[in-house]
Amino acid sequence: MEDEIRALKARKNAVILAHNYQPMEIQALADVVGDSLDLAVKAKETGADLIVVCGVRFMAETAKILNPGRKVVIPVEDAVCPLADYLTPEMILEARRQHTDAAVVVYVNSSAECKALADVTCTSANAVRVVASLQNEEILFGPDANLAAYVQRELPDKKIIPLPPEGHCYVHTGFSLADVEAARKRGGIIVCHPECLPEVQEQADRIASTGGMVRGAADGGNEPWWVFTEREMVSRLRYLYPGRVFYEKPDAVCKDMKKIKLADLLRALDREEHEIVLPPAVMEGARQAIERMLAVGV
Ligand code: 13P
Ligand code: SF4
Repeated sequence: MEDEIRALKARKNAVILAHNYQPMEIQALADVVGDSLDLAVKAKETGADLIVVCGVRFMAETAKILNPGRKVVIPVEDAVCPLADYLTPEMILEARRQHTDAAVVVYVNSSAECKALADVTCTSANAVRVVASLQNEEILFGPDANLAAYVQRELPDKKIIPLPPEGHCYVHTGFSLADVEAARKRGGIIVCHPECLPEVQEQADRIASTGGMVRGAADGGNEPWWVFTEREMVSRLRYLYPGRVFYEKPDAVCKDMKKIKLADLLRALDREEHEIVLPPAVMEGARQAIERMLAVGV
């Protein structure tokens, strides 16, 4: 099946973008593997006729928003990010009415409709830089309240208002202080994603996006890493740095990230499905918010 996928990809001038949490057999066939910021940047740069996004829906929507003239498909239609569902356009409109001086920063793990109402988007790799670039003291930030708490700690002069206060990722909030303690007993460096709970972030040695973990591990060092994010990240790190020791949490699994199988990827290339289609006004509003993020620098 791998050979068929490669042949179809070449014949259709397609590019495969895969997130770091995708199964390794999908990563092996991808042209680009990265965090959500890497995927957005590469989506913007591609000259391919067909863009296949192996990840969750908001990633494919971001690729489409940056490529209105190209066909963008996601191999499994219902691969979604449950965190994104915490934020609705109505919440943003109501919060704007109540905080007239605030800027609205929307995490890319959100719907295109929410992005269209944002002043700027961010990813976990650039959230601090994006918020720091804004003049406003008050920032409405959603949907991840733990990433909001991270930005607040890094930028104490800002007032970050999480929107909604309960927005979270079930995979990352599965890491607890007991996991920190267990890792400390065995030794090594704890690296956590900023979607983890604030008390876990405070005890970690490093906080990084998934792309930040890839770059950070390249700095070398021989100490084992405890990787507090989705467990496939550890497969990726082991693949990139075969001599190093990385530990995962076996039950830290994002179910939606595992929905895409090789057969789905083959079908997506063959039938060019499932195509991402968004209303033009939503595309334009969201594009402006994403472009503002990219202008802050990657
Ligand atoms: P990254 O931007 O770090 O890849 O995170 C995306 C995500 O969904 C984390 O769960
Ligand atoms: Fe969404 Fe969490 Fe899965 Fe990332 S790991 S895609 S935030 S549910």
